[in-house]
Amino acid sequence: MKKDFISISDMDPKEIQAIFELTGKLKKNKSKFAKALSGKTIALIFQKPSNRTRVSFEVGMYQLGGNSIYLGPDEINLGVRESIHDVAKTLSRYCDGIVLRTYEHKNVLEMAKFASIPVINGLSDFSHPCQALADIFTVKEKLKSLKGKTLVYTGDGNNVCNSLIYACFKTGMKINVATPAGFEPESSVVRAAGGSVRLFNDPIEAAKGADVVYTDVWASMGQEDEAEKRKEIFKPFQVNQKLLSFANKGALVMHCLPAHRGQEITDGAIDSPQSVVFDEAENRMHVQKAILIKLLGAKK
Ligand code: CP
Ligand code: NVA
Repeated sequence: MKKDFISISDMDPKEIQAIFELTGKLKKNKSKFAKALSGKTIALIFQKPSNRTRVSFEVGMYQLGGNSIYLGPDEINLGVRESIHDVAKTLSRYCDGIVLRTYEHKNVLEMAKFASIPVINGLSDFSHPCQALADIFTVKEKLKSLKGKTLVYTGDGNNVCNSLIYACFKTGMKINVATPAGFEPESSVVRAAGGSVRLFNDPIEAAKGADVVYTDVWASMGQEDEAEKRKEIFKPFQVNQKLLSFANKGALVMHCLPAHRGQEITDGAIDSPQSVVFDEAENRMHVQKAILIKLLGAKK
């Protein structure tokens, strides 16, 4: 049976632990895995722009001895030129895996349903699981243990926020989410995470006791029309020195990137010694290499 990577909610804590262990090995000893996926090819179907996700998957696959093919919005024109069903069936005859970056989350589910090869969610409007796993791996690297640590997310209750809630829940962390009213994360996600998540409308209240302070853009890809309106609504939720003064001393500053400096985060915060944003970006590649080996590698 092929396995997909669509949501952290589908994973049990042991699987996450195993991915983190393999990630650590991959990061330490690149050459040992130079042939792990030799002869394998993944298709990267991207309906939205990307820097980190595309490059980290392409370079990661190359480092594992495999190959990748980037298929941007103009090439496949998913659902317009061809149905998801037909794309899934066709690519399953050539490739060994598909990474899909799309709008509606149901597109990822549909691709996974019809593909006979593993499908990886490279971001949907609902979630960004590769990001959240790399983020929590980064927290573990920096803070050593995760149990009982508090991550504070301030800003829009978006795809990244949803995945962080699942990731914190599955790894024994607590998460405080501060959003303006009406911009809360998905209620189904909050319900699933039980007592590990607390919602706030006041970022200062949320930031108290934080080991990690995290934010993301106020208008995600596809919400460009709302960007101006959102700038006003989200202003109090900016990560800056004042907000950081309410968190624990030396709390990690995180952002999935791309950042809109001066909006959701100040230069002072993102460039501070507490900031680990480029470690997060680097770890995207190491974590995804582990995911690729788990899903596409030879079964033992
Ligand atoms: N963080 C992230 O997914 O970045 P990209 O949109 O550049 O891939
Ligand atoms: N929430 C952002 C994340 C980008 C990596 C977006 O969906 O655009």
